[in-house]
Amino acid sequence: MIVLGIESSCDETGVALVRTQGPGVPTLLSAALHSQIAMHQAYGGVVPELASRDHIRRVIPLTMQVLAEAQIAQSAIDVVAFTRGPGLAGALLVGAGAACALAAAWGKPVIGVHHLEGHLLSPFLSQDPPEFPFVALLVSGGHTQLMRVDGVGRYTMLGETIDDAAGEAFDKSAKLLGLGYPGGPALAQLAEQGNPTAYALPRPLLHSGDLDFSFAGLKTAVLTQIKRLVADVPEGARVRADLMLNLSAQARADMAASTQAAITEVLVKKSLKALQQSGLKRLVVAGGVGANKSLRKQLDAACAQRGVRVHYPELHLCTDNGAMIALAAAMRLQTGSTQAQRSYAFDVKPRWPLDAIA
Ligand code: KG4
Ligand code: ZN
Repeated sequence: MIVLGIESSCDETGVALVRTQGPGVPTLLSAALHSQIAMHQAYGGVVPELASRDHIRRVIPLTMQVLAEAQIAQSAIDVVAFTRGPGLAGALLVGAGAACALAAAWGKPVIGVHHLEGHLLSPFLSQDPPEFPFVALLVSGGHTQLMRVDGVGRYTMLGETIDDAAGEAFDKSAKLLGLGYPGGPALAQLAEQGNPTAYALPRPLLHSGDLDFSFAGLKTAVLTQIKRLVADVPEGARVRADLMLNLSAQARADMAASTQAAITEVLVKKSLKALQQSGLKRLVVAGGVGANKSLRKQLDAACAQRGVRVHYPELHLCTDNGAMIALAAAMRLQTGSTQAQRSYAFDVKPRWPLDAIA
């Protein structure tokens, strides 16, 4: 079976083809991605209307590209999958519309996929795929969740953020430090030159006893710390235009490192707690923040000590992509969790809890 997957929930248009042979893990045949980061950078964040329009421009050429690269004829595709939610409504509608139009034209069935299920299953495309059951730490720009995963479609929420997501905390703190959008990778890079213990930043809900997260207070703490540092700069030497321009390069790097340490410590400790409570010995990390090197290093060390195996997606599959959508659809079809449909009337779900899918 060959599945075409289309991802368009936010600022990346991703298209990919996967093939299943029997019950084994599907294989990736080809993938293409267009990132809108350069387009949104001028605005300091994603502009939903621009995102939708760009998805319209990219989705069909990318589809033709993956077919050509894999040397697969349109007629060989068995199912067309698309991201049904969660995400930006307009952006989702473009992918859903394109997928259903292509499927109708080709006479193929369609399947709508949950974006987070795509992230969650993406490590199955790695060299070292996990086995069920496992604890999943889903850390993206919009979500921070710990889930117990017993199989495809068998997800139990263990804890989640009550406000900002981990990726959001990276992005908002990065903005305060004058780093571009998306700030996560830039903050992580700057942090490499900094001292993670230079500034004491809060570790929200670290000792809350549950598996929930809260990151909204972190940006306020970062701002307060920056203001404190600026207050130490003599009045006459202060630059007024932008607060953080008053900080030395070392102070900015130290702030970045301290911020990253605050976020990653909470993620690591809560993941360990979820493993301990569930008694599971396997952790899967997925979503954009899963690309963070410091997070990976700390998780690897902590899990090695406890005899826990950690699985990550390949780095290029951590952030949004079409491969994870094609993969999730293929695995759902393999396990009979979902039937593909020949009805081309579609809807999207901008808000859609992962544990609400059957
Ligand atoms: O999963 P993703 O591509 O999109 C969503 O579904 O939200 O995640 C994007 C998020 C952004 O907040 C970005 O700053 C963050 O992942 N991110 C990182 C890194 N790479 C991406 N955060 C920290 N360190 C990184 N290396
Ligand atoms: Zn995502």
